[in-house]
Amino acid sequence: MIKLTAIEKVYRTSTIETLALDNINLEIPKGEFVSIMGPSGCGKSTLLNVMGLLDNPSKGAVEIDGMEISRYSDKKLARLRNQKIGFIFQSFHLINDLSVLDNVEIPLLYRTSTGRSRRELAKEALEKVGLSNRMKHFPSQLSGGQKQRVAIARAIVGKPEIILADEPTGNLDSVMGAEILNILLQLNQEGATIAMVTHDEQMARKTNRLIRLFDGRQVS
Ligand SMILES: Nc1ncnc2c1ncn2[C@@H]1O[C@H](COP(=O)(O)OP(=O)(O)O)[C@@H](O)[C@H]1O
Ligand SMILES: [Mg+2]
Repeated sequence: MIKLTAIEKVYRTSTIETLALDNINLEIPKGEFVSIMGPSGCGKSTLLNVMGLLDNPSKGAVEIDGMEISRYSDKKLARLRNQKIGFIFQSFHLINDLSVLDNVEIPLLYRTSTGRSRRELAKEALEKVGLSNRMKHFPSQLSGGQKQRVAIARAIVGKPEIILADEPTGNLDSVMGAEILNILLQLNQEGATIAMVTHDEQMARKTNRLIRLFDGRQVS
């Protein structure tokens, strides 16, 4: 589903050059749930952003579902990302002056679907994360765990085949964190391919495979 070949990512500023990813070769088959661990600054977010077509690698090839995307235009990349990939971030990234329901509908605005079908899909996604009773709330009225569940609903509303989660439980206590992991495990059971960055060994153990990074290199 996701294939990375000889990926290198260099960040250049006027004074320093950082090799954030160094020869990463990785294949994540359809339906696998992998976790990614490693010390701060080792390249975990960069790796996820490259997989998710949010960032271009400096070298190497990215394939998503058999499509090699290096020659894709930004527009085509954006469409592929919108259709195939759902993102979840540590800090939720919800829009505070939109209701829960409106937040979840956002990814569908880029598609040609009617208001009514957007609403139905958003409700369905919120049901899946157990938040049907909070649709009219605003993000500031929710707990951290509930906010992350809204963010998951937003990530899955377009029924993406791939879910990329960057420390999704990093801002949550262990009870709420376990809840979020259970939702991700459930989505994986239903067929989603998932890559999750985590600092929690116990959570990583519940996934199919653990990838460890160190200084931009894959060490296991
Ligand atoms: N936009 C950027 N510009 C310059 N350097 C960056 C940028 N993003 C990340 N880096 C550097 O790349 C390395 C990897 O960063 P990151 O992928 O965010 O690590 P992690 O998620 O594992 O903490 C770090 O050394 C970081 O400082
Ligand atoms: Mg990071």
